[in-house]
Amino acid sequence: MAGSLRAVTGKQLQLGVLARRMQSIPLTARTVLERASGKSIFEARYYRESQLSRLANLFAHIDVEKWRGMRVLEVGAGLGHLGDAFTALGFDVTSTDGRPEHVEAMRARGRESFVLDLDRDGVDKAGDYDIILAFGVLYHLAKPQEFLQSCGAAAKVLLLETCVCDDREPVVKWVKESSGWLGPDQAVSPNGCRPSPAWVEKTCSEAGFRTVRDISSSIGNWTSGRFDWEAHSTGEWSRSGYNLRKMWVCER
Ligand SMILES: C[S@@+](CC[C@H](N)C(=O)[O-])C[C@H]1O[C@@H](n2cnc3c(N)ncnc32)[C@H](O)[C@@H]1O
Repeated sequence: MAGSLRAVTGKQLQLGVLARRMQSIPLTARTVLERASGKSIFEARYYRESQLSRLANLFAHIDVEKWRGMRVLEVGAGLGHLGDAFTALGFDVTSTDGRPEHVEAMRARGRESFVLDLDRDGVDKAGDYDIILAFGVLYHLAKPQEFLQSCGAAAKVLLLETCVCDDREPVVKWVKESSGWLGPDQAVSPNGCRPSPAWVEKTCSEAGFRTVRDISSSIGNWTSGRFDWEAHSTGEWSRSGYNLRKMWVCER
């Protein structure tokens, strides 16, 4: 008994040392190591951290009870980990992604899921949904305006989270994104964008959302993403090693 306890404690100590060593490895190198060990990018440590912090920020600012019974469409879902939170709360959730391999992985873990390329179809043909959960995907689109317009036409609520650029004016900066091994979570097209908060708010209003509520707060921050950044209108979308992000609740 004492021997097996010693063995377990010894193993825990080793794991603790390993975890501390992993912490001291720079983020990019750690991510490469995690990917090389066979983990999906969506299961890398920084992703898990970002999923928890963004969900914490969202649920700190909404009352899901008023949306009870509404159907949720998760877009650009990756493996659908954010949609899991709504499933756990009793919502009927369908999760979609532009990449068939992510959809297969979601189906394999029992999620209702189909391929939806937002640049090609928006959410027009997706079916009948009340809430669209669009976290981490707007900035991977080549046609962000068309996507937001289709959300305004189809849904009552849009939960939106994205990388943005720091510009006071309503502008969009266009970027090329990584592909291949480096890009399973990047733009399918592979053209992305970095819209300014003013552009997102203007476009959502024009799409038919009467309230566009900015719920960005430090609760959502993680190692490489920040919501409580100061606006200086520098045009940048990355600062001191983290991306500038924003989160909104849009309602018709
Ligand atoms: C940064 S990941 C975000 C994953 C998850 N929503 C999150 O926030 O953690 C972006 C996801 O959007 C998907 N994506 C990129 N371009 C897309 C497009 N045109 N249509 C639909 N999904 C797209 C990628 O395959 C990837 O799974």
